[in-house]
Amino acid sequence: MADVRIGLLTGGGDCPGLNAVIRAVVRKGVDAHGDQLIGFRNGWRGVLDDVAEELSIESTRGILPRGGTILGSSRTNPRKRENGTALVRATLARHELDGLIAIGGEDTLGAAHQLLLEGINVIGVPKTIDNDLGATDQTFGFDTALQIATDAIDRLHTTAESHHRILVVEVMGRSAGWIALHSGLAGGADVILIPEIPFDIDEVCGLIRRRHGRGRYFSIVVVAEGAMPRQGTMRVTAGQEDEFGHPRLGGIGQQLEREIEQRTGFETRATVLGHVQRGGTPTAFDRVLATRLGLAAIDAAHDGSWGAMTALHATEIQLVPLAEAVAEVRRVPVGEYERYGVLFG
Ligand code: F6P
Repeated sequence: MADVRIGLLTGGGDCPGLNAVIRAVVRKGVDAHGDQLIGFRNGWRGVLDDVAEELSIESTRGILPRGGTILGSSRTNPRKRENGTALVRATLARHELDGLIAIGGEDTLGAAHQLLLEGINVIGVPKTIDNDLGATDQTFGFDTALQIATDAIDRLHTTAESHHRILVVEVMGRSAGWIALHSGLAGGADVILIPEIPFDIDEVCGLIRRRHGRGRYFSIVVVAEGAMPRQGTMRVTAGQEDEFGHPRLGGIGQQLEREIEQRTGFETRATVLGHVQRGGTPTAFDRVLATRLGLAAIDAAHDGSWGAMTALHATEIQLVPLAEAVAEVRRVPVGEYERYGVLFG
């Protein structure tokens, strides 16, 4: 097929590896297929408002190790804009595009899927530090965030030990506990709290007291931002919602700090890792995964395999229906978490 014109966008929370996808798409699109690539600024907002630039091999040089996204991102939901689908259709027509490659997580790809159902040609590429997308074994960005969180826990360990403190580390992940569970395991945390399993503050304090009883006068508690106490065991507050209806999370770390200190009498401090987890250069694993997903995405777009998402299945990159990827959030199975209970406290 000759002269295929494809639009590219990065939406939702940025994550390391986005630029590696853009580079791979452009390299293969231009060099191997002779395609023309247009980059839209700031996710779906750039498509709705038609803010775009031509992407070339020259303009995408040197971006492989760079975090963030050269295209910019936003949490714009096309369905929240009046005549959103019509605006998207008009932009595609104006640029004579055959379709779009949307690089995003649950929200960006959810919007892509809705547009697909309304006749827009889209291919998805799964990204998110949260690792919570279905139909793929892993999203790029997760490995980098995990490494950042693990490094932070290692550093907090030494200071916790010196000061005989309880250090609470709040990590991201939205409603999935993948970052908390894996960084907690890698960093040897004494308590790991994830959104999938409401926690009991008495049990948390019990684990910490048990360590003290065994002569370990410090503890590391890793808590996912979306973790919730069992009903009636602790008071929590909810944040404002974004365009996709997700509440802004964060704050459980500080609440735990207060509760643990009050209940145990041990000095407790909280660290919120926040956006540090999304920033900076991607790990080698994320660069390679992002590159492989990008190469598969441009092949799929060039072939007109619209409605697919590129996915990692074991060691292979495959195409899966976009519908499957956005059907439900992939969360930590309870049995998987329970397997590690022996390591806590
Ligand atoms: O989805 C990625 C993520 O970093 C979540 O872990 C977190 O809840 C959210 O984005 C934060 O979003 P924002 O940067 O818009 O505050």
